[in-house]
Amino acid sequence: MPQWLNDSVFYEIYPQSFYDTNGDGIGDINGIIEKLDYVKGLGCNAIWLNPVYDSPFMDAGYDVRDYKNVAPRYGTNDDLVRLFDEAHKKGMKILLDLVPGHTSDTHPWFLESKKAQKSEYTNRYIFTKSVWDAPPQYRMMCGICERDGNYLVNYFSSQPALNYGFHEITHPEWQLPCDHPDCLATVEAIKDIMRFWLDKGADGFRVDMADSLVKNDDEKVATAKIWRGIREMLDKDYPEAAMVAEWCNPERAINNAGFHMDFYLDHHGNGYSRLFRYGDDEGNKGIFNPNGKGDIKNFTDEYLPAYELSKNNGYISFMTNNHDMPRMTHYFGMDAIKLAYAMIFTMPGVPFLYYGDEIGMKYQENLVSKEGGFSRTGSRTPMQWNSGKNLGFSAGDTPYLPVDTDENAPTVENQQNNPDSIYKVVTDIIAIRHANDDLHGNGDFEMIFEPGKFPFGYKRGKFVMLFNPLGKDSEIEINAKGVKKVYEIGTTEVADNKVKMSAQSFVTVSYTHLRAHETDSY
Ligand code: GLC
Ligand code: CA
Repeated sequence: MPQWLNDSVFYEIYPQSFYDTNGDGIGDINGIIEKLDYVKGLGCNAIWLNPVYDSPFMDAGYDVRDYKNVAPRYGTNDDLVRLFDEAHKKGMKILLDLVPGHTSDTHPWFLESKKAQKSEYTNRYIFTKSVWDAPPQYRMMCGICERDGNYLVNYFSSQPALNYGFHEITHPEWQLPCDHPDCLATVEAIKDIMRFWLDKGADGFRVDMADSLVKNDDEKVATAKIWRGIREMLDKDYPEAAMVAEWCNPERAINNAGFHMDFYLDHHGNGYSRLFRYGDDEGNKGIFNPNGKGDIKNFTDEYLPAYELSKNNGYISFMTNNHDMPRMTHYFGMDAIKLAYAMIFTMPGVPFLYYGDEIGMKYQENLVSKEGGFSRTGSRTPMQWNSGKNLGFSAGDTPYLPVDTDENAPTVENQQNNPDSIYKVVTDIIAIRHANDDLHGNGDFEMIFEPGKFPFGYKRGKFVMLFNPLGKDSEIEINAKGVKKVYEIGTTEVADNKVKMSAQSFVTVSYTHLRAHETDSY
């Protein structure tokens, strides 16, 4: 386990929208290098970079055409290596995005695979035996190449699925078992790509659709086996490298597949959305909405068992958002967002901050889809740096996506100068996290809550974090004798046996000067 993860806070950079240094309207790697100090200033000591590889950009670069070359619009491989080096000089880490489940349909492997003539790449993708063979349970493209067969796609039509074989074989005419040499060759090809970038200085990977490798693998046992093999390679040759899964099932991703971290995101209506997004089935918004209707139990029921099962093997990653979901501003007002962030950055695990969330960037409604973004496009608009041209994103005349046109658009500049800003909360809380071991990734954690009630909170070592998401004053009973207030949002008052909290408030208290066992009574 790479030790650095325990005190890491990640910043996700969507490269095309971060900072454009050559005026072509698209963010680039040099732009990221220029802004490393900004990222570090937030308290983020690691970066997850969305795909920067050569691609026709039918899915924002998740349709890779060449895994070993940086897309010219972002720069060169040398620029990327310079980014690794500059980051390392500042004590920061860089995770690349690994897309193992599919490639672009313009990838040279696929161009070979779809030929009638057989080659080393014939089985790199999953083709049926003939074009008349199209079982409806599989998503496939039919009759569009000279090879007589249809091929499975993993996501969009332009993303043919790589062939890792089938766990349960239902169509032996065209489905290969996972241990077929051609399927093992796919695994080797992915390992080769990983080694290529790790040897150049990358610190690991965020793994796209990590659970999607082997088909007909409902329990994901065969997919997990592949990842465990890859983890063995890391443990042996790159013990400091980290892998985070886009899986959202910590038991499978961390315990079974050997990932160091797993995303906690808006998948399958899980506890994440009940906290930070659309809420519950009755249409209530997530619990930080001041309507007071959500129930913290909806979250704890999902999260606590997953946390207990995986905590000794890896980290669950709480995230403000990512490039696939509407930003939190779409659901919550600023006061609620401050509380949500206070939670995200004080929970165990390894937190992730999506670019622009630190200044409360808006989810831009009704944008025409760009590069396969569709409804996600509104969360991918250019970073807002200052009041200059294109809000400081680009000196060019036509940024590839429009910048926020609102005259009150938040920018780094105006947020940094505002003592009441979301930026201030983010940087303050991340700083408190770094300064205290108890608040690091694997520090102790114990929820304090009663189903259906607010405020709620949790204990982490000598700290207690309390949240009042309600739109009205409220109080919670805890043994607060002699505690010290460390940080608050809103107004809170600590008495001996309770804490009074104003509407939408948060407080961290510490039992600093008590001995550990004296904090145990709730
Ligand atoms: C992941 C990515 C998403 C992409 C998809 C297909 O979910 O986060 O952006 O479109 O995989 O690669
Ligand atoms: Ca550029």
